[in-house]
Amino acid sequence: MTEKRDQQFFDGFMLLVGIFVGIVAGILLLGDLVGEGLGAQAEEGAAQSAIVERIRPIGEVALIGDPTLAAAPSGGATAPPPAAVSSTLSGTELYDQLCALCHAAGVGGAPLLTDLASWQPRIEQGAEVLRDHVINGYQGSAGVMPAKGGRTDLSDAEVLAAMQYMLDQVSP
Ligand code: HEC
Repeated sequence: MTEKRDQQFFDGFMLLVGIFVGIVAGILLLGDLVGEGLGAQAEEGAAQSAIVERIRPIGEVALIGDPTLAAAPSGGATAPPPAAVSSTLSGTELYDQLCALCHAAGVGGAPLLTDLASWQPRIEQGAEVLRDHVINGYQGSAGVMPAKGGRTDLSDAEVLAAMQYMLDQVSP
């Protein structure tokens, strides 16, 4: 009687052990398969990035502020601005370019710079009158002195500088 029960217990126990071993084996096998799968996936990933690297375009778009720009050679550096050109003429330059046309040859009765005597009474009129005659022009006894020598686009300062240059030549 007891022997039979023992036998039954043993059978049941072995069945449980068998099931347990089966489950463990199954888990191990599954783990193996999954592991293999993951490994294959990693390999595939490496191959893919190798392809991406090979077919990568030569150029790359980088926006201002992109850290990759710092490493790139600065081919597009902005050129320094050109030096400012002085647009105002000095008194001497203006005399040579404009006033001399009449005052160096005596055109239209213009007093020559070499003729010191003719400048004496003119200088005696005072700087105020001379400035007015040069800037606004006037009709004198010798001829017509056009306003600013005919170049009304010039500034008063430029014309007065030329006048000063002339007066410097004729003043004793
Ligand atoms: C188109 C010819 C002409 C040009 C150009 C000319 N002048 Fe004259 N200028 C005259 C004549 C003519 C007189 C003398 C007018 C008179 O007194 O009858 C004169 C007189 C003057 C006088 C004496 C004014 C006075 O009250 O006696 C000054 C100063 C003078 N010019 C300065 C200049 C300066 C500065 C320039 C250049 C910016 C210039 N002129 C360009 C024709 C010219």
